Amino acid sequence: MAREFARVGVVGLGTMGAGIVEVFAKGGIEVVAVEVTEAAATHGRETIESSTARAVSRGKLAEDDRTALLERVRVTTDMGELADVALVVEAVPERLELKTEVFAALDKVCAPETIFASNTSSLSITELSVRTQRPSKVVGMHFFNPAPVQPLVELVRTVVTEPDVVDDVRALAESLGKSPVVCGDRAGFIANQLLFTYLNQAVGMFESHYAGREDLDAAMRFGCGYPMGPLALMDLIGLDTAYEILEEMYRQSRNQRHAPAPVLKQMITAGLLGRKTGRGFYTYAEPGSSQVV
Ligand code: 3HC
Repeated sequence: MAREFARVGVVGLGTMGAGIVEVFAKGGIEVVAVEVTEAAATHGRETIESSTARAVSRGKLAEDDRTALLERVRVTTDMGELADVALVVEAVPERLELKTEVFAALDKVCAPETIFASNTSSLSITELSVRTQRPSKVVGMHFFNPAPVQPLVELVRTVVTEPDVVDDVRALAESLGKSPVVCGDRAGFIANQLLFTYLNQAVGMFESHYAGREDLDAAMRFGCGYPMGPLALMDLIGLDTAYEILEEMYRQSRNQRHAPAPVLKQMITAGLLGRKTGRGFYTYAEPGSSQVV
């Protein structure tokens, strides 16, 4: 019989984690959202509040539904509150050791049948799964930024994931109005393998002064119908996140096209991480803003 997901957990309330909480809560599911510090928890809650307020102002969500959505979200710093959830999605930063620690802590707290999902975009789900006490109940559940808006969810199965775990998480994603796809465990999965090869090449063209940022972005928007050009998209994703994804893809593939363009590291060192710091390839009105100045 298919599992029911009345209550789920999300660990890590950064851009992706907060968006994932919003998706579950909008779908009528109770969410326990865990962060490490009170400050990070408050920031996560604010992200969810402002994103849902935006959805209301755009006519995507009724005010009453927003209130109900927010009531379904419990933000806490106590991982112990995840004892009775059917599924936990981790969305902490892209470091294998950190994600391993999170799953080890969850193994102690959660029931043996709880499914562990990772929102990682490039780390190996297999490597993560064998470090838990439940490798067959570990899947990748990779959302796209902004998670409340993008319909895609990549479900990553390993050689030991139980088929019914994949089936049930797929049904859950569909019930949330998402369009899930299933794939195997290779860095970048489907979308990022294709997307980041392209983004990295665009950064290379910019770095070599082959074309300016506006021309590069305009080419893909007006020539190919992409909603954003590659450099604007890099700013949305975050240059640090993009770099980590490319590095992991390069580590696994040794394909030169995945070797991060050198300017990325320089921009990261200088704190130009994109929208979140107010400056990346473009400069924004303030950190977190989408308004280019
Ligand atoms: N809930 C529901 N709907 C929402 C919402 C919310 N919280 N917030 C915004 N929306 C809706 C808006 O109402 C709007 O809908 P409409 O077009 O029907 O009016 C739509 O979402 C777009 O929102 P905005 O008007 O605020 O913004 P834009 O029109 O400028 O679009 C964008 C912004 C959605 C980011 C669009 O430019 C886009 O799709 N860009 C490409 C993003 C992309 O490629 N993402 C993937 C990145 S890779 C990744 O995530 C992988 C990871 O591993 C790094």
